[in-house]
Amino acid sequence: MDMIGLHIGVIGAGTMGLGIAQIAAQAGCRVTVFDQSAQALARGGAAMDAALERMVAKGRLAADLRSEITGRVRWDDQLHALSNAHLVIEAIVERLDIKRDVFSALEQIVGADCILATNTSSLSVDAIASALRWPDRFCGLHFFNPVPVMRLVELIASSRTAPSVMTRAAKVMTAWGKQVIVARDVPGFIVNSVARPYYAEGFAALGDGIAPQDIDALMVEAGGFRIGPLALSDLIGQDINYAAAASVHSRIAGIARFELRREQAALVERGDLGQKTGRGVYDHGKPLPLPNWLTSEKPAPAHIQVHAADSPLQGLFTRLANSGICVERNDALPPDCFKLGECVIALGDGLPLAARPGVDMLLDLARDFATATALGVTALRGTDLNPLTAMFHRVGINLLLLPDRPGQVVLRSMVQLANAALDAANHGVASPEDIDKALILGANHPQGPIDWGCGYGIERLAVNLRHLASVLQSDAYLPSAASAK
Ligand code: NAI
Repeated sequence: MDMIGLHIGVIGAGTMGLGIAQIAAQAGCRVTVFDQSAQALARGGAAMDAALERMVAKGRLAADLRSEITGRVRWDDQLHALSNAHLVIEAIVERLDIKRDVFSALEQIVGADCILATNTSSLSVDAIASALRWPDRFCGLHFFNPVPVMRLVELIASSRTAPSVMTRAAKVMTAWGKQVIVARDVPGFIVNSVARPYYAEGFAALGDGIAPQDIDALMVEAGGFRIGPLALSDLIGQDINYAAAASVHSRIAGIARFELRREQAALVERGDLGQKTGRGVYDHGKPLPLPNWLTSEKPAPAHIQVHAADSPLQGLFTRLANSGICVERNDALPPDCFKLGECVIALGDGLPLAARPGVDMLLDLARDFATATALGVTALRGTDLNPLTAMFHRVGINLLLLPDRPGQVVLRSMVQLANAALDAANHGVASPEDIDKALILGANHPQGPIDWGCGYGIERLAVNLRHLASVLQSDAYLPSAASAK
């Protein structure tokens, strides 16, 4: 699609509007940014200049293109300036009444062919459309922050959007270099609903007394995520993250998985909003605390016995064998278990250690035991942790001691993410492939949750979730119909 000659209107010169205007202008479009605040417009112009200047400094943009790009952008405090736009994207305050008013005024002044889109992250696209005389040309285009960096755009139709509008909107987004994923108009669309358990489980673990640096370290070093849930919520801002959770929660009645976490509410109430206020989960005025790694003065044991059945632990056994530890097969052991001296160590399955007779230690899950650099372990009181710690140190794995908590940390988060994703697929929010792609592109997850769940085993996933649901007596963990099959 030829972008030259395409006139894009952007409403709102805030964080998102600026990013959208910048990528539209970079793609060659003519852009008009409207904001009711002259101050926001002036700040916006300076901010876009600075953003492009940084790109030049990093060698990502030729210096002579900078003025060409800024030359394509007009800043205006009159809505009328958008009258001959071909596509208008709204990115103003997240209020249904105000968005409706703006679109009602806008549809009177733009041409009949102009597409109108909202960047709302939590309101219903249908509810905004219901205020319009011509709702067929209206859709949702949900960008991610920072817009120039994040490649995903969720495209959402209202119940009245014309298919040709979806096609044209998708073509423009693709021409801007975005990956478009069509999502149903459900609260939080794909990313903001499916990724919710990542934060919710982080706060639940915090509420159970686990140190935040231990939770974050496990989710990064065993879970394979780029940043832990608590550090990420401090980066996003507790108020913003909690508002997103609250909005999904308020629009979904009765799904326990979306219950709000009191630990996060308390931070917001105290004004501990994260990096921007200097304190959130962490005190950002000080160096962040180190995880409580276990230490050992003893040498690593010379051999272990393992159950040979196919197990997620296989990658770990191979690593241990490659480091010179003798890994003996003993099929008398239960599956997903190994024995160190007289100590039986089992992979967690959602039950607490207290409900696992004959097991002395429970190992928390890793996305990939062949590459994990830290693992969590729960041990019976009085168990000597030295041999296990020493053995893991030998293969570059740090160990963290966890309380006897159902699902420990990583397992509980990962099975709940996969559960949420399967549920979304089951409800037709998007295809399983698109849900996975959205989480990777829009939330920086290392792997799609459904792809992970299939590799882990849908049956194993459902068993873990049922254990969690029964031990915690919470419907929040009931397996989605898709994983229960
Ligand atoms: P922001 O607060 O940075 O900017 C909003 C801008 O809209 C301000 O400049 C304000 O002056 C202007 N504005 C407010 N009411 C207006 C009106 N009636 N007419 C014209 N201009 C008006 O907000 P931000 O963060 O850019 O969010 C905008 C929208 O994008 C919201 O709907 C939000 O939910 C959505 N969104 C935000 C994301 C984020 O990470 N900040 C991510 C994805 C979507």
